[in-house]
Amino acid sequence: MRLEDIRRVAMIGAGTMGSGISMCFAQAGYEVALYSRSAEGIQRALNRVRHSQEVFIQEGLISRSEAEAARARIRGADSLADALRGVQYVLESVPENLALKQDLFREMESLCPPDTILATNTSGLSITAIASACRYPQRVGGMHWANPPEIVPLVEVIRGEQTSDETMDLIYGLSERLGKVPVRVQKDIPGFASNRLQYALLREALHLVQEGVVTVEDVDRTLKNGVGFRYPWLGPLETADLGGLDVFHTICQYLFKELSTMTKTPAFFDEIVQGGNYGIKTGRGFYDYTGKSREQILRKRDLYFLRQLKLLREVQEMD
Ligand SMILES: NC(=O)c1ccc[n+]([C@@H]2O[C@H](COP(=O)([O-])OP(=O)(O)OC[C@H]3O[C@@H](n4cnc5c(N)ncnc54)[C@H](O)[C@@H]3O)[C@@H](O)[C@H]2O)c1
Repeated sequence: MRLEDIRRVAMIGAGTMGSGISMCFAQAGYEVALYSRSAEGIQRALNRVRHSQEVFIQEGLISRSEAEAARARIRGADSLADALRGVQYVLESVPENLALKQDLFREMESLCPPDTILATNTSGLSITAIASACRYPQRVGGMHWANPPEIVPLVEVIRGEQTSDETMDLIYGLSERLGKVPVRVQKDIPGFASNRLQYALLREALHLVQEGVVTVEDVDRTLKNGVGFRYPWLGPLETADLGGLDVFHTICQYLFKELSTMTKTPAFFDEIVQGGNYGIKTGRGFYDYTGKSREQILRKRDLYFLRQLKLLREVQEMD
């Protein structure tokens, strides 16, 4: 299989990620078969795509006619067999459950020729374990997107123990064709690279609040206006190079041993979650969202993100 041979793709799962990812494929010119078990699921996903495209249009990233043409490239499929007919690439994005994904991969493989690439958007399940359900595990690899997938550039391309170089190259090349920024993750370890970085930071954030060092609001304020302010432009290693490795190396000597190594979530976080507070989906999490709609909050987020994306692309072109 060559990259140019991939024209039609199947998106398995039409939730938060499946809808946004379908939009990316369609906007890059691919024909997408979007599989959901119900007609309502497909309709909901297409509505999400339409809403998201409105923000892209508003920000001048896409014209209305391009948006409509892209949507016309997405067709709903209510059976796996229908979704997989004639596709060269399959991306699975159903709930994070190993047995569910293994069953699906087993069934998908029985419906595809041996060279069809089968990728998974799992956040942290083992690619090797998912691929173990297949007779040809070399064509299975991770393609891990970040939410919202139609905006955030990163795609982690993850090698399972049996993933072939060809599969890695195809997932990587395809991600580039979608206008994404792929990263090769060469070992199938929990959390891959991006979630390990994200959760290392979350652990320290929770620790600081639990210990009463700073408030919830001030954790976020500290990060957004300090360390995080640099992150879209300079990663932690670039930051250290610019700051001076002698300084960073010295600080590591006394600070690493002070950082949180907790392996359980702290009590205050457990209480919030056990109280049924899940963030914007319930109206309360670390913050109170009473009186604000989920749509409003997400639209505002997407607007910020799209402006940042435009700036990032501008800077990348200057480099
Ligand atoms: N939400 C995120 O931030 C995020 C980020 C990166 C990766 N992921 C991963 O993406 C995957 C999907 O996450 P999501 O947030 O889109 O979840 P979601 O719950 O929004 O969507 C999952 C979809 O799969 C459908 N589904 C359930 N069982 C199915 C089956 N047997 N066959 C076909 N469809 C089925 C559900 O109806 C739903 O539409 C998970 O593996 C998750 O870990 C999520």
